Amino acid sequence: MAIEDLRCFELNTGAKIPSVGLGTWLAAPGVVYDAISTAVNVGYRHIDCAQIYGNEKEIGDALKKLFANGVVKREELWITSKLWCTDHLPEDVPKAFDRTLCDLQLDYLDLYLIHWPVSMKNGRLTKPDIPSTWKAMEALYDSGKARAIGVSNFSVKKLQGLLDVARVPPAVNQVELHPSLQQPNLHAFCKSKGVHLSGYSPLGKGVESNILKNPVLHTTAEKLGKTPAQIALRWGLQMGHSILPKSTNTARIKENIDLFDWSIPEDLLVNFNKFEQERIVPAEQFVSQASPGYKTIEELWDDWSSKMKNQSPR
Ligand code: A2P
Repeated sequence: MAIEDLRCFELNTGAKIPSVGLGTWLAAPGVVYDAISTAVNVGYRHIDCAQIYGNEKEIGDALKKLFANGVVKREELWITSKLWCTDHLPEDVPKAFDRTLCDLQLDYLDLYLIHWPVSMKNGRLTKPDIPSTWKAMEALYDSGKARAIGVSNFSVKKLQGLLDVARVPPAVNQVELHPSLQQPNLHAFCKSKGVHLSGYSPLGKGVESNILKNPVLHTTAEKLGKTPAQIALRWGLQMGHSILPKSTNTARIKENIDLFDWSIPEDLLVNFNKFEQERIVPAEQFVSQASPGYKTIEELWDDWSSKMKNQSPR
């Protein structure tokens, strides 16, 4: 059986997003520079950033050097960044975007996302007004400085609410996705609406959770001569998700993109139905009984419940 070429996925804008991006959340200043250089040198063409990660200046320095040395051209790279929750007011959106462009030393982004369906001002949670924030995102898209726009951490219900009012539909929804959080309802909904799903924490945050210890990952890895991390990542690609593994370690950066000349056969893929489902980024800090926004975790995620256990998208 031919191995499907999963190096890129096509978005509803017609652009092709490279399927493996380097995650930079928790990539500490001081090490992220080298991680970006290593990643691009070993073939990554997609970097996932966000203003709140606090490392965009250093990423910008690394990109500048890579361009100057002719390692890669700007147009060969896919750079994503995200609007933080404190900048949801329409007048704040272009300012936050320009700050990110300035820090990254770029003149356009390939993708700009609303980071959370959550808004904050002066240290307090406020009531989100996604339609007005989205209008400001659409203006960035119209300007050509954000070549695609999208969202992150949106449930089916919140995405439907946005699709109902959007002039420019979101190209991407970036959410936590890995074999232990398969999000079958969201997967089916996004597929039906032409919104590409991108997975953060595709390794379940490595040793911070038990996800990579799952016996299905281990037995599949042994059979295919790969690592459990590579199995988790290749599963994401075979589901049609772009994946954003974070690493600042040279060997693991290489391991995490060595995914294209092999595949998980159907008879092993069925075992992924057995994974217990758990969310490792519940984001409880965005929920409070006193908030004019979400009062409970169910309101934030909409389908957060024990019913999620053992659902599978396949
Ligand atoms: P490190 O940066 O030292 O490699 P996620 O992308 O799911 O959030 O996971 C990131 C975590 O997983 C980080 O702690 C990262 O550590 C670790 N990690 C990255 N790649 C691998 C890998 N191939 N095997 C095991 N752990 C990994």
